[in-house]
Amino acid sequence: ENHDLDQYYDEVISLVKKAGDIVKEKTLNRDKLIETKSSDIDLVTETDQEVEKLLIDNLSKKFNGHKFIGEETVSGGGQCILTDAPTWIIDPIDGTMNFVHSFPHSCISIALFVKQKPMIGIIYNPMLNQFFTARKGKGAFLNGKKITVSGKKHLSEALLMFELGTSREPEKQRVVSENQDILMKQAHGLRSLGSAALDMAMVACGAADAYFEYGIHIWDIAAGELLVTEAGGVIMDPTGGELDRFSRRVLIASSQELAEKLSQIIVQFYPAPRD
Ligand code: IPD
Repeated sequence: ENHDLDQYYDEVISLVKKAGDIVKEKTLNRDKLIETKSSDIDLVTETDQEVEKLLIDNLSKKFNGHKFIGEETVSGGGQCILTDAPTWIIDPIDGTMNFVHSFPHSCISIALFVKQKPMIGIIYNPMLNQFFTARKGKGAFLNGKKITVSGKKHLSEALLMFELGTSREPEKQRVVSENQDILMKQAHGLRSLGSAALDMAMVACGAADAYFEYGIHIWDIAAGELLVTEAGGVIMDPTGGELDRFSRRVLIASSQELAEKLSQIIVQFYPAPRD
């Protein structure tokens, strides 16, 4: 079966730009309709739903037989299944908490998987005009300029992206605190953007050196995976094993050495249920 990836790419770029206009306009608007999901700090707004609908409606009209895994469709009871069919994995607004507060770090994250492998990855923060793109075998780009990871190997020189997450579960929060304690003693610095996809984009462009999190979902990391690997970085399970995209665990780094070092010193956590 032949897939016209150029056509898929052109189409998704133009849709993500439209979605970005909506997110940008609504970010500035202080009155947002907010609902909660798995916890009181796991949020969804009408804009998340509107953007997801815009992307799915238009892509499914254009591309017969394509499948979708969308954050808001899944939290509304939809299925989270990845087959060999071309599948768009969508987070309409990653960093919804930021969006709700008009903190200008949220993005649209969308990836296309074919035969269960990432082929296209797009992450767009319309507030700061950061348009990250990647295609399998063709490199990673920020606003059309090629990007690469920093290549840093030593934890003492590494700026780490680190998230508190959206769970109030005491055991999860304890592990987050313990890891912060371990890393603040050894890393050059710890930062948090409040968006898994943008954290990954920062590593891809060399502005940060590693990121890991427990509790993310496949749509938070689907586009970031291709962006980081096309920029020369590594992605794995936080234990150091192979990435399991449905396990809700991820670790990325600018080098194999740094990834392995982190996997050895962090406290592990296994979120349930799986995606
Ligand atoms: C969340 C953000 C946040 C991360 C959470 C994600 P959402 O995604 O990426 O930074 O800590 O694990 O679920 O809910 O804003 O799309």
